[in-house]
Amino acid sequence: MFKDFKLIAGRPVYIQVKDYMKHLIIKGALQGNQKLPSTRELSLLLQVSRNSVISAYESLEDDGFTYAVQGQGSYVAPAAAGSISVPTWTLDWKTRLNGHARMAEDLDIMKRGIRAEKGTISFTSIAPDENLFDLDHVKRAFMERMSVEGNVLLNYGYAKGYKPLIDYLRQYMEHKGVDMHGKDILITNGFTEGFDIVLSALSKKGGAVICENPTHHTAIKNMKLHGFELKGISLERDGIHLGELKQALEEGVYDCAYFVPSYHNPTGIVMSPEKRQSLMKLMTQYEIPVIEDGFNEELRYSGAHVAPLIATAGSGNSVVYLGSFSKVLFPGLRVGWILADRELISVLESTKRARSIHTSTLDQSILYQYLLGGHLEKYLKRAKSEYKRKYELTMECCKELIPYATVSGDGGLHLFVTFEEGFNTRELLAACHERGVIFTAGDIFFTDGTGQNTLRLGFSRVNDEDIRKGIVIIGNVARQLMG
Ligand SMILES: Cc1ncc(COP(=O)(O)O)c(C=O)c1O
Repeated sequence: MFKDFKLIAGRPVYIQVKDYMKHLIIKGALQGNQKLPSTRELSLLLQVSRNSVISAYESLEDDGFTYAVQGQGSYVAPAAAGSISVPTWTLDWKTRLNGHARMAEDLDIMKRGIRAEKGTISFTSIAPDENLFDLDHVKRAFMERMSVEGNVLLNYGYAKGYKPLIDYLRQYMEHKGVDMHGKDILITNGFTEGFDIVLSALSKKGGAVICENPTHHTAIKNMKLHGFELKGISLERDGIHLGELKQALEEGVYDCAYFVPSYHNPTGIVMSPEKRQSLMKLMTQYEIPVIEDGFNEELRYSGAHVAPLIATAGSGNSVVYLGSFSKVLFPGLRVGWILADRELISVLESTKRARSIHTSTLDQSILYQYLLGGHLEKYLKRAKSEYKRKYELTMECCKELIPYATVSGDGGLHLFVTFEEGFNTRELLAACHERGVIFTAGDIFFTDGTGQNTLRLGFSRVNDEDIRKGIVIIGNVARQLMG
């Protein structure tokens, strides 16, 4: 005993001694009423100062693990000592899981995806490049908020969100042309939680959602987990295919629609303003509420600003807009928002409270202070010029080197490549992986099991040299597979 004690740096020594002794007591290595070594003995055995052992013993007694006998020393409290009185039971949890849990695991591609070994050129991520993060201003925002109201921020906050951030976002959305009259905002843990909350409010047995095909994989996963049937509508160069959409609306019944009109994931397509108008007219005609995903709107490198669908809807209340700063700023802060009809938000606020009480007020306040200081604009200017350069380089390399049928991407952090029918990008991926390059096979984005001839290239975290090197390999392997 006492030979396996190892000190780790950065943690007070007396706490480590206390934890070590506690562990021996709990696992039964030290029995009830057994006398502990004297403080002098233990300090020699563990090679720590006697003061550390004295403090550890005091703390063990405070927590009820030991008791002291005047003039004799410390003893293990009988109730604290571990005893194996219950037969051990190893349960097979798989047999207890419900269909929802099993489906969540089945759809969790992160567990099955190819891992990027060191040195691999990976085009799988569409996360921002952390080297661009403006850490100084984030640190300052944190310090400023903490000094103004640190103790309030560390206590429970409001389910609806941090009021200054909500007020800021109201203006932010007004500047995008949204009529905020009769609308309200609920802060969520990113787009993903917001979407989950909205779907949970709308899902009914046998429900169906109409969406673009392909579309955001996490969205497909969540819609399926909520029990929705999906009807995917194909995309044209300027957004959703309206003819196909109209036919689907004629033939089916849908609880809601989910659209990503700007820098769509995975295709990167921006829906034209004319199409947005026509789309909203159709949705109004067939009375389908729209969930709009505005995640990428700010990552525009050229062309005019296009107003979100919720702005196109004017004073109407049928669009639920989901916003996120995950691509535009920092995904680690997990702050997003739902902008919708005021009464709907009031209901969703209760769902949010029931699920997670509220989004971290600390995260919200840091974001608020950062936004208030005007740093988003400065950061975006820098980040966009870097991403634009990479976007153009990736596009140029694709055009020059990949034998594609079409390539799309009007901005954002990725491009989408479609090969001729019959080509298989899973085979391409396996062969490229052997040569140190990976990307996302496009089939995971399709609602109907198609898309085997597509792939997504995320370029935000790949350096210029690797972008070219990686695309040379993808192009060469693709040509070899084509024979
Ligand atoms: C289409 C789409 N919407 C939203 C998000 C952002 O999700 P979150 O805010 O939960 O990070 C992503 C991230 O990749 C996305 O691709």
